[in-house]
Amino acid sequence: MSRAFETRCIHGGEESRLKDAFRAVSFPIYQTATFSHTETGHNGSGFDYTRESNPTRTHTEDVVASLEGARHAIGFSSGMAAISCFFDLFGRGDHIICSEDLYGGVFRLNRLVTEKKGVSVSYVDTSDLQELRASFRPETRAVYLETPTNPMMHITDLHMAAKLAHEHGALLAVDNTFLSPYFQNPLALGSDIVIHSASKFLSGHNDTVAGFICLNDDILSEELRLLAKTTGASLSPFDSFLVERGIKTLAVRMQKQQENAVALAELLSGHSKVREVCYTGLRTHRGYALNLSQSKGFGSMISLHTDTAETALRVLHKVRLFTFAESLGGTESLVTYPLIQTHPDVPQQLKDKLGIDGTLLRMSVGLENIDDLTADILQALEG
Ligand SMILES: Cc1ncc(COP(=O)(O)O)c(C=O)c1O
Repeated sequence: MSRAFETRCIHGGEESRLKDAFRAVSFPIYQTATFSHTETGHNGSGFDYTRESNPTRTHTEDVVASLEGARHAIGFSSGMAAISCFFDLFGRGDHIICSEDLYGGVFRLNRLVTEKKGVSVSYVDTSDLQELRASFRPETRAVYLETPTNPMMHITDLHMAAKLAHEHGALLAVDNTFLSPYFQNPLALGSDIVIHSASKFLSGHNDTVAGFICLNDDILSEELRLLAKTTGASLSPFDSFLVERGIKTLAVRMQKQQENAVALAELLSGHSKVREVCYTGLRTHRGYALNLSQSKGFGSMISLHTDTAETALRVLHKVRLFTFAESLGGTESLVTYPLIQTHPDVPQQLKDKLGIDGTLLRMSVGLENIDDLTADILQALEG
């Protein structure tokens, strides 16, 4: 019988490549830059140099791969390093379709790097399959999307997006950061690549920055590993350890954080100073049914429009338990102002279309007691 998700969080999959020589229960940090060779052309251990591979990173990669049901996982020094490595697969003349609602750093990457290489990028509403279908060109090589999207929580039909991409000879890559493999496994729904900012739910403690690419294709995996080794943004042994330690509690954290988020979203929905709550766990959410048909839950990310920009700014400055900070997915609840913090690089026209304005707040609901969280948000909204 294959191991359950919770067990794989702690012990990895049965197919884990490495066992520690001293049978350490917590896999050790191999803090070394290089490995001695036994003879010319032979390293004797399978490891040469830590930029290329390191036992701690390999062990963590195996755990992450098992959670996504992937044959391969590659660890990077940040989510953006993982995303950049994926975009490095493409060159002059290629075309990539991205979801129009997306972590702002991806717009910046495309403007400063991808497009300068001669790759063209279209931003489309991938939750609208007609729009997605119409955006393919003969030179389209990939579709890159988030579901739920950051920050507006739009949902794309992953099965249909994969079908459309494959009909056009393109790859489907999904940033699965918001739901984590606990709630959603895009590879099982037909996607080719899964990307994580492991700085968020995977590590889960707001104490490290990391990223992963997960995939099944052996040849593509070799190509990405070679790019990673060449460009050099590999995950360090210490940060690999932190990610792996965080993952041990992923299942319980995801479940409890979601429970807190559902309670908070319901409370905020009826509040006079809140115009709209965007949370996939609310039955009124446009993507509620679709999200549940392809995942096991909603996660703990909530975006909301307050009645005025003044209210949003007051919340940011009056919260005492929530921290006014970028990032998400950790044990501590955070509140973010996407307009200025995470999404300033989104073109203004798109910000207007999506509703990324001065009234938008994004909350990452953590593990604190729900009554304390509720009291904090209420005093900040009403204060
Ligand atoms: C959905 C999503 N993907 C990717 C990233 C980038 O990850 P990192 O900050 O680890 O580079 C972020 C960062 O906030 C994000 O929210």
